[in-house]
Amino acid sequence: MSSIRYEIDELAIPAAPQAPGWPDFDAANRLRNAVEAEAYGTTDLELTAEELLPGWLNQRWEPKRLLVARADGRIVGRGHYETLPEDSAVHAWLAAEVLPAYRRHGVGSALFDRLENLARAAGRRVQLVYAPSPDAPGERLPSPTGFGSVPLGNPEVRFLRARGYHLEQVVRASRLALPVHSAQLHRLREDAAAQAGPDYSVLQWVDRTPPEWLPDLALLYTRMSTDAPSAGLAEPERLWTPERLAQEQQMAAAGPRTALTSAVLHGPSGHLVGFTELDVPAEPGRAASQEDTLVLREHRGHRLGMLLKAANLEFLAERRPGHPSVITYNAEENRHMLSVNEAIGFVPMGYEGAWRRDAH
Ligand SMILES: CC(C)(COP(=O)(O)OP(=O)(O)OC[C@H]1O[C@@H](n2cnc3c(N)ncnc32)[C@H](O)[C@@H]1OP(=O)(O)O)[C@@H](O)C(=O)NCCC(=O)NCCS
Repeated sequence: MSSIRYEIDELAIPAAPQAPGWPDFDAANRLRNAVEAEAYGTTDLELTAEELLPGWLNQRWEPKRLLVARADGRIVGRGHYETLPEDSAVHAWLAAEVLPAYRRHGVGSALFDRLENLARAAGRRVQLVYAPSPDAPGERLPSPTGFGSVPLGNPEVRFLRARGYHLEQVVRASRLALPVHSAQLHRLREDAAAQAGPDYSVLQWVDRTPPEWLPDLALLYTRMSTDAPSAGLAEPERLWTPERLAQEQQMAAAGPRTALTSAVLHGPSGHLVGFTELDVPAEPGRAASQEDTLVLREHRGHRLGMLLKAANLEFLAERRPGHPSVITYNAEENRHMLSVNEAIGFVPMGYEGAWRRDAH
């Protein structure tokens, strides 16, 4: 390993766009975008610093820390630490990116040493990493789920294995080219509605959840954290209360993106039993992002997943037409969700490995 001079420090999160600390925060985010674009071969996943800021300011429910590596007078690496607010929590989510020209000089290791030390000091002994793995020829490392694999010779795979991380799951990123033909979308929705029957109907809203539905949505969000397949990662429950939901939505509304939600109302019980959300940038030339989708277990098997997805894509076409694509991530073993997405027209655009290390 040849040596370069670099320093690692922690950034204070700016209170608002252009507030003190903004240029470094913005530079760290641009680095994140550049490395992700390299991994996926597309700029579809780019997020602006303004868009990410509300998430960084959400320290109460999703505490996070941002490290940077500086060399030659600029930011050449970024480290990301996130955990849960409860003192008793044992999970931390870690990530690092290094600019290609600065790799193989120990910067990634130095960032990860710091991130793992932060986790250890806080008693977060289960350390999870989601890392994009671009396709490459050669030997593969299969996911223990039996679904998907990553190229064994990739830098991130070698890096994480050398540090004691184990591959637990492969996640598929998929892209839907827009517009979907409106007649096709309508037919998918109508077929799903016919199969679901008259007990179920769709409600839709933009950004803030109507107050009367906050308790139901809080339950759905909580279930999302435990019901999505998380293989050997043992992703923890994230507890949502109506208060948290309202406050987070208020914070998100201060950012430039718009959330479009479709939910399914179960008439006989008067409760929402499923929801799906699209997160839409202000600029029509950029991709929208498919966020959570969940149908409560006791209401599965009624085509509500397709009903929700088709309805929300119609909502997007009606309220915010012109975006080129929708991006979504699903566990490679999540056949039910993948089948819905494939029927709508999503195609794979890349894969991520989900890795776990148990510190002593
Ligand atoms: C993975 C990544 C962070 C590594 O950063 P880095 O600064 O190059 O890492 P280091 O120089 O500290 O490498 C440490 C060890 O990882 C392994 N490694 C890293 N890159 C490798 C490569 N291209 N080929 C083989 N082994 C590699 C080696 O064991 C290396 O030790 P060595 O150089 O003494 O042989 C960097 O490649 C990157 O930013 N990739 C894109 C983002 C990403 O995938 N992050 C993964 C974690 S979230």
